[in-house]
Amino acid sequence: MTEEIVKSALSNVTYPGFTKDIVTFGFVKEITVSGSDVSVTVEITSSAPEVAQQITDEATAELKRAGAQNVAVNIAAPKMPRESSSHGKNIAPHVKNFIMVSSGKGGVGKSTSSVNLAIALAMQGKKVGLLDADIYGPNVPRMLGIESVKPEIEGNKVIPLKAYGIEVMSMGSLMEEGQSLIWRGAMVMKAIEQFLRDILWSELDCLVIDMPPGTGDAQLSLAQSVPVTLGITVTTPQTVSLDDSRRSLDMFKKLNIPIGGIVENMSGFIAPDTGVEYDIFGKGTTEPLAKEFGTKILAEIPIEPAVRVGGDEGKPITYFKPESETAKRYMKAAEDVWAQIVQINEEGGVDNEAIQPTTPPGVSACSTGAAPQQPSQSSDGESCGTGCGCH
Ligand SMILES: Nc1ncnc2c1ncn2[C@@H]1O[C@H](COP(=O)(O)OP(=O)(O)O)[C@@H](O)[C@H]1O
Ligand SMILES: [Mg+2]
Repeated sequence: MTEEIVKSALSNVTYPGFTKDIVTFGFVKEITVSGSDVSVTVEITSSAPEVAQQITDEATAELKRAGAQNVAVNIAAPKMPRESSSHGKNIAPHVKNFIMVSSGKGGVGKSTSSVNLAIALAMQGKKVGLLDADIYGPNVPRMLGIESVKPEIEGNKVIPLKAYGIEVMSMGSLMEEGQSLIWRGAMVMKAIEQFLRDILWSELDCLVIDMPPGTGDAQLSLAQSVPVTLGITVTTPQTVSLDDSRRSLDMFKKLNIPIGGIVENMSGFIAPDTGVEYDIFGKGTTEPLAKEFGTKILAEIPIEPAVRVGGDEGKPITYFKPESETAKRYMKAAEDVWAQIVQINEEGGVDNEAIQPTTPPGVSACSTGAAPQQPSQSSDGESCGTGCGCH
């Protein structure tokens, strides 16, 4: 036996739930060969025992097939609390943690970041759902290559679609292509609630939610319906985008959502031919804003043509080009996000009790003045942010 033979045998072992193998993922850390005895250490990012068992079984079988006599597979897995300690209202109790991805404006890479973070979390062994709550521009199905797949209905519930190891649902999957709806405040709130209540999500470690841009009804409704564990803002480095991102961060604060950080997207440009990095929209301009809100830059994602191509062709870069700089940065951001979630839960979790509407169902919060003070940046520009529909 040689190390080369071992590697080639292990490249037949796919990581459970994915089409890629454990060598390509870079999980094989140590190989010791002594005659026909082989010992390997595989470092995985999942704490699920069934993942470790499956890899052990398959690796042992493949190595024996390649001629090894005695095989020892050591799995190094992180300890990961799968429980949530959050309180308050949760209309999707089988989902442990909720990550709200927001941005001040559209086109900054919110969906791209949601998709790649969700996939990175799944590649790290979490059970992940991705909810495309951007009802005004539901692009997630195209970015995952499932734009023509229609979900199945079970009873009066919708079964989420599956792509690249994650569960997905989007208004785009429920409507005909190109069709549009005109959303009023109350409808937005209802849609968000239905996404959480009427979709048969599995027991998820986390649900990543791609929000509509801005700070309005959808954000408030989501935060009142489920305890949001972490809020992430996506911005581009220009000052005009940062202005809007400040409103996004301020919204997290007002809704008592812990701020997980800022993704500075389109931060520099990496030329595909030379690998040289150019400054286009500026770079590093987000840092003072992060400081102002006591948070950090989760990732600086460069403009990389492969990101756009991956989005248009439904082949997310984190999954298809794990060796790219962008994929590595999303993977690192996902690790950071998860570490924060673990810490938040260790410290008692989040609670959305304080932001519940104080009026009985059916009574407008506006008429009582009980509506939480929201920045008046609603996406349709005319609602008070409570979804009462009275403005
Ligand atoms: N870092 C990047 N490099 C290259 N293209 C990008 C990058 N981030 C986003 N894009 C592209 O920019 C467009 C807008 O991104 P998208 O994620 O849809 O923004 P949003 O959801 O905020 O409206 C998409 O075509 C996407 O593929
Ligand atoms: Mg989008």
